[in-house]
Amino acid sequence: MTNDIKYKFPVDFWWGSSASATQTEGAADVDGKGKNIWDYWYEIEPHRFFDGVGPQDTSQFYTKYKEDIRLMKEIGHNSFRMSISWARLIHGGTGEVNGKAVKFYNNVIDEMIANGIEPFVNLFHFDMPLELQEKGGWVNRETVEAYVNYAKTAFELFGDRVSKWFTHNEPIVPVEGGYMYDFHYPNEVNFKKAVQVAFHSILASAKAIKEYKALGRNGEIGIILNLTPSYPRSQNPEDVKASVLADAFFNRSFLDPSVKGTFPKELTDILKEYNYLPEYQKEDLEIIAGNTVDLLGVNYYQPRRVKAKEHMPHLDAPFMPDHFFDNYVMPGRKMNPHRGWEIYEKGIYDILTNLRENYGNIPCFISENGMGVEGEEKFRDDNGMIQDDYRIEFIRDHLQWVHKALEEGANVKGYHMWTFMDNWSWSNAYKNRYGFVSVNLDKDAERTVKKSGYWFKKVAEQNGF
Ligand code: BG6
Repeated sequence: MTNDIKYKFPVDFWWGSSASATQTEGAADVDGKGKNIWDYWYEIEPHRFFDGVGPQDTSQFYTKYKEDIRLMKEIGHNSFRMSISWARLIHGGTGEVNGKAVKFYNNVIDEMIANGIEPFVNLFHFDMPLELQEKGGWVNRETVEAYVNYAKTAFELFGDRVSKWFTHNEPIVPVEGGYMYDFHYPNEVNFKKAVQVAFHSILASAKAIKEYKALGRNGEIGIILNLTPSYPRSQNPEDVKASVLADAFFNRSFLDPSVKGTFPKELTDILKEYNYLPEYQKEDLEIIAGNTVDLLGVNYYQPRRVKAKEHMPHLDAPFMPDHFFDNYVMPGRKMNPHRGWEIYEKGIYDILTNLRENYGNIPCFISENGMGVEGEEKFRDDNGMIQDDYRIEFIRDHLQWVHKALEEGANVKGYHMWTFMDNWSWSNAYKNRYGFVSVNLDKDAERTVKKSGYWFKKVAEQNGF
């Protein structure tokens, strides 16, 4: 990298990475932590997890956090997004606060601040406490109240030092994984429940925002959404309509209520017509309308390409959003072959432009973007460093589009890569490695910074590249 900086970012731009509790902490059953759905699912169906590796075998952030925060600083982070494990903070999800968890999260937050790294704290990252799931999880309205209590507890305990809060990470994923497409526990296929889970997650977010505001803290609260810009196969009206509906189901379902406090009409019309509206109380809509986010986290990995439906599903097939469009494989698309996801860098610009034009230019940041790769060990050089040039290229190409959006007025305040170190990922476990730092599971989770980590350090230090 020369000193010629073509893409310069604002001085106070947030450079860092993101992670979640269940994926990094390990220590799944010590110091009073209760079980969450991942601990349980692994117990009953270990074969679902790549190489049979479960959530207790993650990267040991619980014991190695000091080393990790030192490395974050070493590679130029000025901010880092973590999550609090609900089942660790409050065993069972309701009731007593676990003092050992409070101590752990206090230590982590203090250590970050001491190293000049601003903590961004997310509350819910797919990790429902098992006892609440047994009573229906997000399907059950009581979970909303339990969550609000959890959120308030966290604001009160850590809000003196944390000023960036997020209510959920990708709340549509537990809806899709748990109630539509079989990749999260309780792996049911039930669209009625899926809609209820979505609605309760949105309501819980708005109620947590309300609690946060009532505390009068000097901070910001937002939500982190995975946005998949929806592109039609052609400008044929049927393809365009399919794309509009896919966008309503998978993006605007959470984006509109979170930012505007309303639900997209395209979506509610369908839910009404097919009798899938959720159960709700009248005042819920007022709470959602009155408690929108200050800040939006955007996770971007891949676009969604769709075309008009070609074959109607069988009459007995369960109702799904997919009844309104087919996925479309664009010829010549660029792929990440490891994860099976299309790489389309301009998508990040299209999202930011959409937020600028249609969502009041809400303050936002890229809260996840990254490349999962299998078998990275083969790229380790004689000095022990993984030469992950593909990851550098991936990040750089996306950042160029972020820069263009910024120049055109997008209110984008930072870029967090997924993820800091290789971590355990839901059913994929350690299959795809995403980190700036590699983790050797055979050597007590030994950490080594990859080439991309040092590249990122320079980008952060120079505020550009
Ligand atoms: C996001 C999640 O969906 O993508 C992360 O917030 C996840 O938790 C990441 O790890 C990458 O996805 P995957 O399935 O390849 O690990």
